[in-house]
Amino acid sequence: MSQLQTVRGTRDLFQDANQRHRFIETTASRVVELYGFEEIQTPILEPAGLFKRGLGDTSDIVSKQMYLFKDLGGDELVLRPEGTAGVARAFIQEGMSQLTPLKLFYRGPMFRYERPQKGRYRQFHQFGVELLGVEKPQADLEVLACGYRILKELGVLGSITLHLNTIGDEASRAAYRDKLVGYLNTRKSELSQDSLWRLENNPLRILDSKDPGDKNVVASAPKLSDSLTPEAKAFFDAVLIGLKALEIPFIIDDNLVRGLDYYCHTVFEFTTDALGSQNAVLAGGRYDGLIKDLGGPQTPGVGWAFGIDRLAELLPDLPASPEPIAIVPLGDEAEQAAILLSEKLRSAGLKTDIGYSGNLAKRMKRADKIGARAAVIIGSNELTAGVAQVKWLKTGTQESIALSELSNRLLDTDN
Ligand code: HAM
Repeated sequence: MSQLQTVRGTRDLFQDANQRHRFIETTASRVVELYGFEEIQTPILEPAGLFKRGLGDTSDIVSKQMYLFKDLGGDELVLRPEGTAGVARAFIQEGMSQLTPLKLFYRGPMFRYERPQKGRYRQFHQFGVELLGVEKPQADLEVLACGYRILKELGVLGSITLHLNTIGDEASRAAYRDKLVGYLNTRKSELSQDSLWRLENNPLRILDSKDPGDKNVVASAPKLSDSLTPEAKAFFDAVLIGLKALEIPFIIDDNLVRGLDYYCHTVFEFTTDALGSQNAVLAGGRYDGLIKDLGGPQTPGVGWAFGIDRLAELLPDLPASPEPIAIVPLGDEAEQAAILLSEKLRSAGLKTDIGYSGNLAKRMKRADKIGARAAVIIGSNELTAGVAQVKWLKTGTQESIALSELSNRLLDTDN
């Protein structure tokens, strides 16, 4: 029988990898709470229509990356590929328009049928924020500042650059689309197959094509920034002025358009050169039309999500976790006492490990292996005398300590 394995593009997370994920989630949760974001948990399973309507039929996600299936009742379901559409659905369904301005954050697994490679998985984990109900550019600045602060606290800013662009309002994009399509039609023969399809369906996406031929064509294309309405330009200028005042460095990238249809105005990506081609770490933008398109009240929104898996790969070494205390019982009576003793030490806040089997030598070896600071050795003689033998593993010295004194002495980390 062949051995059962994880599905391609999915992983078991444990030990260091899991600790990295948890450290990132804890740090990010602490930071977003400073900004007043509250956690929301939406289901992993959502109706397929949510993403078809929300992200657009021609987006890569909807056209080729969704885990889409019919359940036993015949409903078309999707394993969510991203978090924004689910938050928008919840906003409408739960009548949250009374609560705006509303700041929500979420974390959890997302699913996309992509070709797995370093930094790209089929089940990956996002942490994201959405600020709903504020149409002013100050909201864009607040979410950008929040993302920047998380990356800074995680110590990864060194290899990361913020790329920023505006795709304007509907009128700006309509005017630009005409100019762009006019230009691209004159150079159709140089475009890739994908871009020929996009030319008919979603021409703006050609701007961020990775194909060298497309890039060459795009280099001389008209600029979206020349088609902005005065309002759209003023909006973007306010974001840029704010970023400078906040001293958040950025690069304007004329060709950054993002792959999801819901965006308008500000779009951005914090990218790294340390992860090969999977360079976007934290990405997002403004989406003023999404909630209305999904059947809700007109409500502007702006937010981002970062890939926890990608950040985990960039993270420097984790801060050391506290070293445990190893309890080493010898004999049946002591085995029983060890359970009570370790509970007492844990109540005092000490991380405590009981080696469950083996002789003294084997248990001392385990104490070394788990990086214990001290081994607390108890046998029947010690129990009768109300003491424990404590071996300080860094120095190798050993002393007898009264059980009543034990937690205080172990809490003293000078040893
Ligand atoms: P996205 O750019 O599709 O945006 O994904 C955001 C981040 O998720 C990416 O920058 C990347 O770090 C991570 N990511 C995406 N796909 C994968 C994958 N296959 N493997 C590993 N990591 C991945 C969104 O999802 C929007 N909902 C962001 C947003 C929130 N916009 C407004 N609010």
